[in-house]
Amino acid sequence: MTTDWWRSAVIYQIYPKSFADADGDGIGDVAGIRSRLSYLADLGVDAIWVSPWYRSPDRDGGYDVEDFRQIDPRFGDVEEAVALIRDAHKLGLRVIADIVPNHVSDQHRWFRAALATTPGSPEWDLFHAVAGTGEGGTRPPNDWRSVFGGSAWDPILDAAGGATGFWFLHLFDATQPDLNWEHPTVRAEFEDILRFWFERGLDGFRIDVATSLIKAPGYPDEHRAPGADAGLSLEVTEGQPQWNRPGVHDVWRAWRRVADEHDPPRVFVGEVWADSPAGLAAYLRPDELHTVFNFDYMMCPWDVDRLRSVVDASLSTAGLVGAPATWVLESHDKPRVRTRFALDAAGRDINDRSGPGEDALGALRGRAATLFMLGLPGSAYLYQGQELGLREVWELPAGARQDPAFARTNGADGLRDGCRVPIPWTDERPGCGFGPTGASWLPMPPDWGAMSVARQDRSETGVLALVRRALRLRRAEPALRSPGMTWVAQEDPAVLVLRRGQSGGDGDVVVAMNLGGATVHLAGGALLAASAPGIQAVDGGVLLPPDSAVWLRG
Ligand code: GLC
Repeated sequence: MTTDWWRSAVIYQIYPKSFADADGDGIGDVAGIRSRLSYLADLGVDAIWVSPWYRSPDRDGGYDVEDFRQIDPRFGDVEEAVALIRDAHKLGLRVIADIVPNHVSDQHRWFRAALATTPGSPEWDLFHAVAGTGEGGTRPPNDWRSVFGGSAWDPILDAAGGATGFWFLHLFDATQPDLNWEHPTVRAEFEDILRFWFERGLDGFRIDVATSLIKAPGYPDEHRAPGADAGLSLEVTEGQPQWNRPGVHDVWRAWRRVADEHDPPRVFVGEVWADSPAGLAAYLRPDELHTVFNFDYMMCPWDVDRLRSVVDASLSTAGLVGAPATWVLESHDKPRVRTRFALDAAGRDINDRSGPGEDALGALRGRAATLFMLGLPGSAYLYQGQELGLREVWELPAGARQDPAFARTNGADGLRDGCRVPIPWTDERPGCGFGPTGASWLPMPPDWGAMSVARQDRSETGVLALVRRALRLRRAEPALRSPGMTWVAQEDPAVLVLRRGQSGGDGDVVVAMNLGGATVHLAGGALLAASAPGIQAVDGGVLLPPDSAVWLRG
């Protein structure tokens, strides 16, 4: 195991509520993850990233943390988490966990202590307790909006429930008060939490909302267009008062020192939406975060020019500071890639989650996109179920939805549960093998079992077989772990072709995807992997149909 494994790793994201349920309560757990580690090792990923597993009232899928040093009792306990890390290491898998420094749960001991005092107290200093505007402070301190809809401020009430004229800040749900990162106690506490988990063997952290810790002094208005909500994208524009403030980088430099205290050094991946390539690269300087999530790539539609330019920009941005690029198509926050491309094909917004779109086409493009992504240089993420080609469950009934933004926007936003439906391990109803009792915290649609691991295990042509093959090749072929790539010009501009390896060397691998409408002949050696069944090698290469991708010997 090398120390710079993160430069080319494939990291599998586990959303613990939905991965595997060992105790039968319909909610996934640590024992469930442990029981499926051999599946993940066999899949061929290098690491797992576990979304928050800490004690939490679960108002935002665990991103509302009550105690970072405890595992939520629904998931297990710290001992079990340590056993999971140990088991994973034995199988050659690294383990990273989410950490959520921007905010805590309103049930966190610090916030409860603050509520028992009045604004101005040392307890409130750990949060953003700010005097309101208007007579008696009856209006919020400024115009900031919550990413989940509505104002980012809620009034602080006194013990009798009366107004104090002060407000607390929550960039997300009102149950997620923002911490004051200017306060040394907050900084010391999180460095201690990092050490707590590093000492227990954790290999690193994915840092939730790594851009928002520092707020502009004086809380100036941001002058967002009237009626515009921030929306769930966290997208930022230059100079906003709550995102990407220069001071945030001091926090990451301090965290990096903590990571580097350990042997082997621990790693960070930041959830970073920046306003420019240079702004993004700043997070990746050698004394800050190792990698950041690549949202531009994730949000790229099925469009050859945009895809090429986002690949180029990602490589050059990370290259500015010697960091690897990362690639990602799915997460617990965004619609499944298959459905995104299905909607895109139907002329709808790719963030739209209101229907299936052109599902068959989306399925083909999703497979192609996953194979293409795994052929790019750098580190890649797979979200649980992406290896099964799962679709977005857009038809979840309103009553089943738990995303807090759904309630805050009256159902206009907050549709993230559609990519969080538990994993179908088998085709047995009810429950599709998610747990021993058939219970599932979100309902599974009728076609769920047909996409299950058990069904695809027996298939040579399923998405699972494709991902397994690609990950095996990624390990076997040094060219696919090398840092660079070169584009290979094509006659048909709708076909993207790139070469990995020495350029002309025997071990080169050619990665290609056809985003156009015509089948093309692609020159190359042996066919290593194809995104769809029926793609056959022909003399001197392959016939590449529309909406497909291949890897060839160079
Ligand atoms: C990140 C998480 C998301 C969560 C939010 C608030 O964007 O990925 O799931 O709701 O932060 O913590």
